[in-house]
Amino acid sequence: QHFAGNHQLLASKSILITAGPTREAIDPVRYLSNHSSGKMGFALATAAQQLGAQVTLVSGPVQLPTPPGVTRIDVVSAQDMYEAVLAQVEQADIFIGCAAVADYRPEQIADSKIKKHQDTMHLSLVKNPDILATVAHQPNPPFTIGFAAETDDVVRYAQDKLEQKRLRLIAANDVSDTQIGFNSDDNAMQLLWQDEQGQLQQLSLNRASKLQIATQLLQHAATLMK
Ligand code: CTP
Ligand code: CA
Repeated sequence: QHFAGNHQLLASKSILITAGPTREAIDPVRYLSNHSSGKMGFALATAAQQLGAQVTLVSGPVQLPTPPGVTRIDVVSAQDMYEAVLAQVEQADIFIGCAAVADYRPEQIADSKIKKHQDTMHLSLVKNPDILATVAHQPNPPFTIGFAAETDDVVRYAQDKLEQKRLRLIAANDVSDTQIGFNSDDNAMQLLWQDEQGQLQQLSLNRASKLQIATQLLQHAATLMK
């Protein structure tokens, strides 16, 4: 999808994007993960490349082809994703955290397959690093954009994340809307940001293909960056 006059809106910009789920190993054959398809992050990479940006996509395990002209780095765990992002972020003008990063990982990974000896089993989990907040809290951060997946109080939770993670823009998704779930080709979202006076501003992106939504989000970010 091309929008007349916008082809080079992000020319000379370098964009780093995370996409997809992460997998947190329990033992050699098992992991914790989530239902993220990676489609929104890949749509953002496609749209950014079409708008003239140089795009690096750090992706968890997904079943999607690499968009043409995009540099892809595959990772598995949240820790891998964190390290890949920190190794790339210095060159980035824009960072978009679109991955559904696992919030916790097993405290220990068993060396061999865990046997079902016991009737109950307890898994001890520890928190993963917050990739998005780490990027935004750097001394010279890129223009940092986050997502917020919420089932209730969408705007309030997204506003909290915007402020606490020091983001320039957040895209809030209502994931309780089963019409446009994790594996959908469509999406809809609320964009939230603070204007120069520190006032919270909002813009609704109505239901459209993920590529159209991605293009609108990037066009809006380009406007805020000016
Ligand atoms: N994120 C991240 N690293 C993490 C967790 C989240 O970079 N370890 C990013 C996601 O890519 C997304 C944003 O943070 O852009 C918000 O993710 P979300 O799961 O909605 O929020 P959390 O901060 O993890 O809080 P919670 O799950 O408790 O709502
Ligand atoms: Ca989370």
